[in-house]
Amino acid sequence: MSRICIIGTGYVGMASAIGFAELGHTIVGFDIMPERVADLQRGITPYREAGIEETLAKHLKTGRMRFTANQQEAVRSAQLVLISVGTPALADGSCDLTGLRQCVAALRKCDLTDCAAVVLRSTVPPGTSDDVAKQLENIAEVIYAPEFLREGNAVADFLKPDRTVIGAESITAAVAYATLFEPLQAPIMLTSRRSAELIKGASNAFLALKISFANEIANLCDALGADSLDVLRGVGSDRRIGPAFLMPGIGFGGPCFEKDLKSLERTATRRMVNCELVSGALRVNERQPKRIVEILTAELGSLQGRRIGVWGLAFKAGTDDIRDSLAVRILEDLSERGAIVRAFDPAIRSANLPENCTLVTTALDAADADALLVLTEWPEFREVSPHAIARNLSARLVVDGRNALDIERIVDAGLRYRGVGRTADPVLELEAVS
Ligand code: UDX
Ligand code: UDX
Repeated sequence: MSRICIIGTGYVGMASAIGFAELGHTIVGFDIMPERVADLQRGITPYREAGIEETLAKHLKTGRMRFTANQQEAVRSAQLVLISVGTPALADGSCDLTGLRQCVAALRKCDLTDCAAVVLRSTVPPGTSDDVAKQLENIAEVIYAPEFLREGNAVADFLKPDRTVIGAESITAAVAYATLFEPLQAPIMLTSRRSAELIKGASNAFLALKISFANEIANLCDALGADSLDVLRGVGSDRRIGPAFLMPGIGFGGPCFEKDLKSLERTATRRMVNCELVSGALRVNERQPKRIVEILTAELGSLQGRRIGVWGLAFKAGTDDIRDSLAVRILEDLSERGAIVRAFDPAIRSANLPENCTLVTTALDAADADALLVLTEWPEFREVSPHAIARNLSARLVVDGRNALDIERIVDAGLRYRGVGRTADPVLELEAVS
């Protein structure tokens, strides 16, 4: 069993920490934020995920996991050092590597005698881990090992990977890291650091591309009176295409996709390479939240003074994360148009919302409005009685930006329903069939 140090205890760092502890390794976590370390020492995680606090409590008790605010002490005697500090986007779309640079500068002063490899896990532009390797030359071997963890499901994703990608220039270092993943019995792929960095960027770009494609087709469904869920289910049933990430909606949000696509686009531009599909996926995604507001204005006219109920603020169901959530961007748009918004999210108890937007504590309280917008696909929204919604909703309009509700039940309650490429009255053009 190995002694592993994890630098940066955000969701990637914590999912890896818990995953490795579950596999029997000993973990020391370091974070630059002392309050985060103090919380973790008390068993409080920085993000929400089913079962994570119970698992953390278990490993704090057995002593297999501990946390410190002292990087030198965290790294001492570690056999592997993993870096998962945040690499957020700067205003120009490039990746902010300040945290990574600070962490590597500090590592140069640490005792890395026992360390077989420093493993970079943060998403970075290709070439970054070669730079880190130069910084740590004669001090430690450097590996780039991307993560493919989804927020809200990160520990499960860690323990059931489709593949483990290892970008290394030293076989000894690669083997030391690869050995950790043997019990998971997933394919291990060994490549160069640069290729591993691009595998991460290209994977996120392809997933985002699928979503933007689904949104484009759903918008076409709207114009044709076709049902986007049927159409995309039909498309995704082809094994060459696959059904995953074809769910149309308000667009992709969250701290990763937009940032990673912009970073990839920038990397390509700097090397005079056209990445039109990546740029196209971003363009579609910028338009999609505006489209939801267009649907609303097409039905209601001016939004000045109109009361809009909103269900969902998190960037997807299963998380309380609103970083780069398109729901929040839609709220900003509504606020600029003079709407008065009552928003509810089952995972969010407080948030800084735009002007005239209030966070309320129940779904029905939010639905006390002229119209209702669904912006996150929380399954519990399907459980709310459409008749109870109908009693309070004065303009009787539901715009389902996630196609999350049951159309029939909404319409039976006397409400109008508009989804994304999903209409309550499918047009049957039988002549076209014959
Ligand atoms: C991760 C990856 O690091 C990022 O590259 C990827 O694109 C998305 O997932 P995430 O875990 O979401 O980021 O980041 P965050 O939740 O912000 O946590 C990063 C942690 O690193 C924070 O706790 C922060 O305090 C810590 N950190 C940051 C350091 O310990 N040192 C630093 O210098 C900077
Ligand atoms: C993503 C990647 O999936 C993961 O591999 C990577 O490591 C980090 O980025 P995450 O951002 O946690 O994970 O969420 P994900 O489940 O991929 O969803 C991203 C966004 O796309 C969400 O806003 C989600 O609602 C949206 N989405 C996803 C769709 O609109 N339609 C889909 O079919 C799938």
